[in-house]
Amino acid sequence: MVSATKGFEAMPSQADRGYSRPTSDIGARKADHLDLCEGDEVGFRSTTTLLECVRFLHQSLPELSSDEVSTEVELLGRRLRAPIVIAAMTGGHERAATINRSLATIAQQRGYGFGLGSQRAMQHDQTMGWTYRVREWAPDVLLLGNIGVVQARETATRDLESLVNDVGADALCVHLNPAMELIQSDGDRDFRGCVQTLTRLCNELPFPIIAKETGNGLSPQTIEKLVRAGVRYVDTSGAGGTSWVGVETLRAQGTARSTGNRLWDWGIPTASSIHYAASASLTTIATGGIRSGLDVARAIALGARASGIARPLLQALARQGEDGVRVYLDEVVHELRSVMLLTGTRSVEDLRHAPRIISGELEKWIAAWQVRA
Ligand SMILES: Cc1cc2nc3c(=O)[nH]c(=O)nc-3n(C[C@H](O)[C@H](O)[C@H](O)COP(=O)(O)O)c2cc1C
Repeated sequence: MVSATKGFEAMPSQADRGYSRPTSDIGARKADHLDLCEGDEVGFRSTTTLLECVRFLHQSLPELSSDEVSTEVELLGRRLRAPIVIAAMTGGHERAATINRSLATIAQQRGYGFGLGSQRAMQHDQTMGWTYRVREWAPDVLLLGNIGVVQARETATRDLESLVNDVGADALCVHLNPAMELIQSDGDRDFRGCVQTLTRLCNELPFPIIAKETGNGLSPQTIEKLVRAGVRYVDTSGAGGTSWVGVETLRAQGTARSTGNRLWDWGIPTASSIHYAASASLTTIATGGIRSGLDVARAIALGARASGIARPLLQALARQGEDGVRVYLDEVVHELRSVMLLTGTRSVEDLRHAPRIISGELEKWIAAWQVRA
């Protein structure tokens, strides 16, 4: 049996600021989880996304007016005004509800997608459902549900369907997170049967399944397994942004702590993961260390349909409130539009084909593996 306090629910206790302390184990740990990620300690230390290895060719004669540039994309049947998804973060307690409501409202106002955090807390305790229900504030957004693959393995398909329907989500992200589990003292250790679980979900659920990493990226071998399971959508959540091994290391002790410190930077860089996923013709959300409009543009040039951003938005919300989140995202979109004009690309589809040079380590990651889909 999977315990109720695994993965994204099992975080250390930290001071909770301004909210009454959640009473359940899951809620309390989830609140602690936010505290750790609002700080600056949990980024990758030396591994980068490798997006810096993608350079566009500047076009001095773009023959475009800036108001002709369109950042719109279609993703999972919804139209986004910019190729941005506010990536999965939270749910399961009062503070999480406030965060979900704020970020979902911004997603609605600006036309982005929005991902809920792991719904394990509401699966465990139905009275927590309200902390995830954002449709009232975000009726039109692309809304993504979320559950861990190990929890999904233990759950009947119809119960997963109810979990998604309850919040009115358009699709279910199934997160894959073995690296963080191994560093966590009471984390999961048995990852067998997960490919079969994904096959079951793809066959039996009436909405799309997105296989989502959580900061360690997707290898060509994993992608081949996903394709065989029938998965058509992935979220790379590659290395170079928030390190979940790092988050777990900060709470670990003894052997797990030293292993965590050594594996802090473990993973497939986001840029490499995007290339592998897009080569297998998977619709790809590029998450993991996306921090600017140029990052979004580079991810799209490598084959992503949209980009996900998580921790910087949590930090902006904690430090400057909703306005801080809006300013951060407006800057990302302004920068993306500027890059599009300077590459002479009118649409996101054109940007995919913009002339670019790929150099350095990314070139090696690309040359090393051909994805057989
Ligand atoms: C506070 C916080 C909570 C998260 N919780 C979840 C989660 O419940 N489910 C999930 O799939 N990913 C979760 N993630 C991972 C993010 O969705 C994302 O994949 C990862 O943080 C990399 O993106 P970033 O570098 O922009 O932070 C969480 C991230 C943060 C910062």
